Amino acid sequence: MTPEQQDSCGQRRYLFVSSIDASRGLGGHHDPALPRGLGRRGSTDRAPRIESSQQNHRYLAIDVDSAAMQSTELQDAVDAISWYHKMELPGGILTPGESDTARGLPRLRLPERLDGLSVLDIGAWDGFYSFEAKRRGAARVLATDSYSWTGPGWGSKAGFLLARRALGLDVEDLDIDVMELAPDRVGTFDVVLLLGVLYHLKDPITAIERAASVTNHLLIVETVTNLSWSPFPAARLFVGSELNNDDSNWWALNPTALHSLLKRAGFQDVQTVYRTQLARRVARALDQSIRHQRSFWSQVRGARIVLHARKEPQILRS
Ligand SMILES: C[S@@+](CC[C@H](N)C(=O)[O-])C[C@H]1O[C@@H](n2cnc3c(N)ncnc32)[C@H](O)[C@@H]1O
Repeated sequence: MTPEQQDSCGQRRYLFVSSIDASRGLGGHHDPALPRGLGRRGSTDRAPRIESSQQNHRYLAIDVDSAAMQSTELQDAVDAISWYHKMELPGGILTPGESDTARGLPRLRLPERLDGLSVLDIGAWDGFYSFEAKRRGAARVLATDSYSWTGPGWGSKAGFLLARRALGLDVEDLDIDVMELAPDRVGTFDVVLLLGVLYHLKDPITAIERAASVTNHLLIVETVTNLSWSPFPAARLFVGSELNNDDSNWWALNPTALHSLLKRAGFQDVQTVYRTQLARRVARALDQSIRHQRSFWSQVRGARIVLHARKEPQILRS
């Protein structure tokens, strides 16, 4: 049995969550635009059952048959996982992730309806944006990840598996590195989401090309940008953990570089649909410099940016 594996025991389905999750935080990772320290789990006296022990993992067996799952069971299962996304599950249960999805979602300008379309979510983690695409009517959604699901990343796949079961949404999943994405591996998709991933990669240029290769119409990119004042395509390199005290962050491409690379990768139309306002960057930089002794100016220069890149200009305009 591997961690976070779903299995059948008689008539019932169980989700086996490695209890290592329960003690494992997000490590050094923290997304730059998000407030730190939100949503750490409180204690609970409703401990999930510990089913078995193997290779330093202990497995919590959670009955995840949607009809049979009680809200106390779901709450226990939620409490046993380190979440990244805040999302609402049945019974009013809110997952305690640090990523404020209620703030992040409107910034994406995701089309209100995705009826009949196929959607690929690259670096989906707990899957909030995959589930949102399905809620908006997408015919097919494929959530992919590797670093946080099965790699050395900050979390696990347990949140995605639990949320998918609890929400009862038909979202597919595939463990695959962004660098391995290609039409012959995953097919092509009408809409592709590349959210919060680019700055974690040593080679963001190839990642943009990989994402473009599997996009039929619209690629939505959300990332960290820097050096925005430069009229030339440029990127800031983070050699250590300068970006948010996280040494898995490498590059912040400036807007000119992002636009140029997306066009070179085959998108005719590239629009910036969101960029963090200066007032917000200053407020955040003040907070970070006081609370975490981070460089004020470095924080002010960095921003989040969302781009819509279309293969043909008129398609999927909201
Ligand atoms: C900051 S989180 C963003 C999660 C989600 N897309 C969102 O916007 O809320 C970065 C995600 O990228 C994933 N990731 C990092 N490197 C990756 C790689 N080489 N291939 C696939 N996913 C990767 C991580 O596992 C993690 O889920």
